[in-house]
Amino acid sequence: MLASLAHPDLLRSQNYIGQQWCDARPGQTLPVFDPATGDEIARVPDSDATDAIRAADAAATAFPDWSRRTARDRAQIIKRWHALILSHQDDLARIISAEQGKPMHESVGEVRYGASYVEWFAEEATRICGDVVAESAPGRKMFVLKEAVGVVAAITPWNFPLAMIARKIAPALAAGCTVVAKPAEDTPLTALALVYLAEEAGLPPGVINIVTASRTNTPAVVDAWLADPRVRKITFTGSTPVGKHLARESAGTLKKLSLELGGNAPFIVFDDADLDAAVEGLMASKFRNGGQTCVCPNRVYVQDGVHDAFVERLAARVKALHVGPATEPASRIGPMINARAVEKIDRHVQDAVAKGARIVAGGERVRTSDGPHYYAPTVLVDATPAMALADEETFGPVAPVFRFRHEDEVIRHANDTPFGLAAYFYSNDVRRIWRVAQALETGIVGINEGAIASEAAPFGGVKESGYGREGSRHGLDDYMHTKYLCQGQLA
Ligand code: SIN
Repeated sequence: MLASLAHPDLLRSQNYIGQQWCDARPGQTLPVFDPATGDEIARVPDSDATDAIRAADAAATAFPDWSRRTARDRAQIIKRWHALILSHQDDLARIISAEQGKPMHESVGEVRYGASYVEWFAEEATRICGDVVAESAPGRKMFVLKEAVGVVAAITPWNFPLAMIARKIAPALAAGCTVVAKPAEDTPLTALALVYLAEEAGLPPGVINIVTASRTNTPAVVDAWLADPRVRKITFTGSTPVGKHLARESAGTLKKLSLELGGNAPFIVFDDADLDAAVEGLMASKFRNGGQTCVCPNRVYVQDGVHDAFVERLAARVKALHVGPATEPASRIGPMINARAVEKIDRHVQDAVAKGARIVAGGERVRTSDGPHYYAPTVLVDATPAMALADEETFGPVAPVFRFRHEDEVIRHANDTPFGLAAYFYSNDVRRIWRVAQALETGIVGINEGAIASEAAPFGGVKESGYGREGSRHGLDDYMHTKYLCQGQLA
C-alpha cells in the first residue's frame, strides 16, 4: 500500500522539530508494523527525553509570534492545511490503512472526518471573542479576554491516527497555541504525513513539533513534558489508567488537561423502538473500525418484547460482514491492531461463554490469506453483569446482548460503570426519550442515532471517561484561558 503513494514525500521517517526533519538524538529507531501480517513497513525515531525537550524548546520559542498573529492570519494557514489534507486524501487513507488496518473506505472517511475538524477550527479562530462587562463602579471599564494557554502537548491513540491528532492540533493552532505531539507507537506515519502537509501549508517553524517513541521510551518523552513548566496543557486520548497518571503527574505544574479516556457504552433498545433503525444504528456504531473506538457500544440491552426479533435481524447483518484486509473493497472488518488485541477479544468471548452466553454469530479468531490478527464479528446473547465484557472495554467486533424488562432496571445497569463517555438508546416515546437522556450518566447520548461524532459537537466524557471537550466552540475554549482586565481612573 505504501509503495503506491502518489506523493511518496508524505512518507516520513524522522521527527519534526523546529521545522527540521531529524533523527532521535540517540539515533535509535522503532519499527512500524502492518497489523494484518505483522510485517515491518517502516521505521521511525525512538525518541527520548532529550528529543522531547528540544521539541518543547522549539514550541516555546514559536509561541510569542504565533499567539500574537491575527486570528485571520492563523485561520488562513489552517485553511490551507485543510485543503492539502483533502487533496491528499487517497494517500493519507493508504497510510492509515497500512499502519492501522481499517478498510480503505473507512480510512477515506477518517481523512474527511479529521479534515472537518481542521476546517471547523480554522473558521472558529476568527470568532474568538471575550466580553465587555457592565462596569461595577464609576470610572471603571472591565473586559474579559480569551488568550492561548501556551505550549500544548498532544498525545494520541492508534485507533484514529489522523482524526485524533487533527482534532487536537487544529483547535490549538486556532487558539494561538504551539504544539508538541507524540502519536501512538503503532501508527506514527499518518501523524508525520499530516505535519508534513502543515509545513506545506505555510506553518511557521516550531508551531508544530512531533516526536515518535516506542512503548518503552514513551514515558520518558511524556514525563519530560509533564515536568516542563512551559508546557501549559496536555491533551490526551487513551486509557483511563494513563489519563489518571497524567492528571497526577501534571499537578506539579498545574497544567490544563483534556482527557478523553476509556468508555463502556450501553446501547439500549426499548420495546417501542424502530427495530430496523436500531439494528442499523448498532451496525454503524459497534462495527466501525472493527469495534476499536472509545464510543462504540460495549453492552447492548434489549427489552424483552423485541429481544428475539432484534437479535435475529442483528445476527443476519453481522454474519454478512466481510472480514479481510484493508485493500479488499468488500472488507468491512479489517485486522485488529495487534496480537494482544485479538487475545483480549477472545478472552472476553471465552469468559462470556463459560459464564452462560450463547454465540449467535462469529465467536472465533479468523486467519485470512494475509495474517492471523482478525476476529469474526460476533453477537452473544444471554450476557450478564458477571461477565468480563460487562465491565471492561472489549475494543473489538463483539456485541453482547443483555435482556431487560423495565426502564429503571436498564438505567441502573447502564450507569453501573465508572465510565461515562457515550450511550445510545432507541425509543419512539417522546417522554421516555427525555427521561432516559437525562438519566444516562455520559457526556454523549445518541438518541435513535448511532453515528454521533461531528466536528460541530462537543465530544467528551464524564466520570472516569475524563474531562474536556473536542469539537465545537467548547473544543476551542479548552485551549484558552480567561483574562480579566479592569481599567480605572476613567471618570
Ligand atoms: C475514539 O474512539 O476515541 C474517537 C471516536 C470518534 O471520534 O468517533
